[in-house]
Amino acid sequence: MELLDNLMASAKQNLQRIVLPEGTEIRTLKAANIILKDKVAKIILIGDRSQIESLAKEENLEYISDAEIIDPNCFDKIGIYADLLFELRKAKGLTKEKAEELAKNPLYLSCLLIKNGDADGELAGAENATGDVLRPAFQIIKTKPNINVVSGAFLMFTPKKEYGKDGLLVFADCAVNPNPSAEQLAQIAVSSAETAKAIGKFEPRVAMLSFSTQGSAKHELVDKVKEATELAKGLNKELLIDGELQADAALVPSIGEKKAPHSDIAGKANVLVFPDLQSGNIGYKLVERLSGSLAIGPILQGIAAPVNDLSRGCSVDDIVRMIAITANQAMK
Ligand code: ACO
Repeated sequence: MELLDNLMASAKQNLQRIVLPEGTEIRTLKAANIILKDKVAKIILIGDRSQIESLAKEENLEYISDAEIIDPNCFDKIGIYADLLFELRKAKGLTKEKAEELAKNPLYLSCLLIKNGDADGELAGAENATGDVLRPAFQIIKTKPNINVVSGAFLMFTPKKEYGKDGLLVFADCAVNPNPSAEQLAQIAVSSAETAKAIGKFEPRVAMLSFSTQGSAKHELVDKVKEATELAKGLNKELLIDGELQADAALVPSIGEKKAPHSDIAGKANVLVFPDLQSGNIGYKLVERLSGSLAIGPILQGIAAPVNDLSRGCSVDDIVRMIAITANQAMK
């Protein structure tokens, strides 16, 4: 896939330090071996050193010796990171003892490495649940300036070349916020447009999805999507966005023309913003399974430095692609 090849190539040009806190997870190790062999990124593995080394030997992962390995239980700098965590969270009631314990947790230590400038991005989730990957990132790395909500987008490579950019669309939020407010939905729209530009490499046209198109139904859920659309326009005056739109009106030119004849987005949308996590998560999985699309993500957006979450069912190839995407997000 050309876009993914280009993302790999640009990562190779500007090597970023990607930390993998699940250093003893076998798919993660295999993916790290490929990344190191192809020189796509520098890799920091967190985990028991002897376990990592013996797994690498058993599986003939010869390039793992090029990774930096941090074993949190015998890491001479652990005190620096425990102090950093204590400083960041003491106002929230974190004690020094708890900070020392948490700093040894690989999911916390990864974020602390990034916060301290010792790594550029993180990828985890092959063996940890989404909430456990995201919580330390929210607490330690926090959001970008002018954004206070992190959300998760998918690159959807569909076989339907007539939609989006030659079949490629961005879907969000499919991973993080169960029930976003209108203000949060507006920020999700702005962040998703940035992801489409920065990672999808296309000019975003954002549709704010609903079960109504431009007043065809009246409901408080529809009002939230309308309000979010107006707020998003206020956040980014250049943004090409319209809502509320039903999915068919957003995507299909003839239906867009009929249901929203004055819209610049209807029938041409390439970024779909779902009204909540139930619709977003169900929506991307249905499209992935029923249309044979490739779904890449969730790509976390709105966060001050890249941290990405994997599905626990991920393959080695998924991890390789997400490391390349994380590296691209990390480039300044
Ligand atoms: N953006 C930025 N910061 C956030 C966000 C957000 N979306 N959500 C929570 N935070 C911050 C809070 O402000 C808080 O910060 P503070 O401690 O400095 O005050 C911190 O994170 C913890 O907040 P909580 O409300 O305690 O967060 P909690 O841990 O309960 O929930 C979580 C966060 C885990 C992400 C929750 O929203 C969640 O579980 N979401 C659903 C995740 C999920 O299951 N997704 C589906 C699977 S993914 C897939 O299928 C691709």
